[in-house]
Amino acid sequence: MEQILFFDTDDLLKNYWSAHPLTGFEPIFIEKTLNACTAAELAPYRDARIISSFTHSDTLGAGQLDFFPNLKLIATRSTGYNHINLDYCQRRGIVVCNVPAYGATTVAEFAFALLLAVARKLIPANNDMVRDHISISNYMGFDLAGKVLGVIGTGSIGRHMIQIAQGFGMKILAYDPFPNEALQGMYVDNLSDLYQQSDIISLHVPSTPQNHHLLNEKAFQQMKKGVIIINTARGDLIDTQALYWALRTGIVGGAGLDVLENEDFLLHDEVVLNSQDRDSEFLLDSAMNLKLLQFRNVIATPHVAFNSIDAINRINETTLKTIQAFAEGQIINSVSNR
Ligand code: NAI
Repeated sequence: MEQILFFDTDDLLKNYWSAHPLTGFEPIFIEKTLNACTAAELAPYRDARIISSFTHSDTLGAGQLDFFPNLKLIATRSTGYNHINLDYCQRRGIVVCNVPAYGATTVAEFAFALLLAVARKLIPANNDMVRDHISISNYMGFDLAGKVLGVIGTGSIGRHMIQIAQGFGMKILAYDPFPNEALQGMYVDNLSDLYQQSDIISLHVPSTPQNHHLLNEKAFQQMKKGVIIINTARGDLIDTQALYWALRTGIVGGAGLDVLENEDFLLHDEVVLNSQDRDSEFLLDSAMNLKLLQFRNVIATPHVAFNSIDAINRINETTLKTIQAFAEGQIINSVSNR
């Protein structure tokens, strides 16, 4: 039987594959990320042709994949694939597939949950319930109705975010180099206009070299004082040090962050233990992340916007179909050559 190596696994994934076995294939479930596995742990699986991983900020490339000389398919159980070195995979003839659409509503609902929580100071209000002195003035928030929401990126998630916001009576401004016809009338010509007019800015663009530090000090300087930033897309879209500065100076009045730049340091113990291998930028971002968490007007979550039972079921279903198609000699959901 051919082995399929699943990394970053949990019980839901195991249960799904037990209920949907693929003839001729044996799933191997490894809880750690591939990056965290030692060569000795991987040695029994050196011949693997198929790997399925999840997202993490360490890029999968030569360092990890050279170990598998016969590798032919990486099926990432995510929409984003910036954690995989596509150039390296292309050189080696490894096909990379993703889950193109599983959670547009799932992620947009989470982004909105972050926005509501920041706007109404839900987390501090909840935390303070166990204290002996409660002053309601500490929890004064603001209405969303009538406020301007700037949506950067109007792909599947951004569009759902807009729909939800419209239900709340918000005004929408949008920016995307590839505007969607159905959203005509909402677009501004450039990001500066969106920065200057938005009360809230929500990011829904992929992490690409061009989008690295899209929100930097220059961008924050153009924003309305007290703007709320919501990021459920990718951590490196925001320059962490610039965000820290913008929060300190009050330009940013609050933030809801499901993703952080170099978030692995906070999220995975083994990364902390191996931190001596990291560059100074990684360590500085990691330290800045901890400082961000100290702001009462910042809510951070551990990259879980995708994590609803409905979305996970859809992810597992698509990954099974991708691997099944590959086993039958077809490629679906490929992101190679993008
Ligand atoms: P999508 O591909 O449907 O839409 C992305 C849109 O961003 C496209 O319309 C594109 O033209 C636009 N875009 C690219 N660069 C831009 C720029 N500089 N300014 C304005 N627009 C720009 O992607 P989708 O499904 O909406 O997802 C967005 C991102 O959300 C993903 O790339 C992924 O990184 C992130 N995500 C996060 C999850 C989480 O759990 N936190 C789960 C799923 C996705």
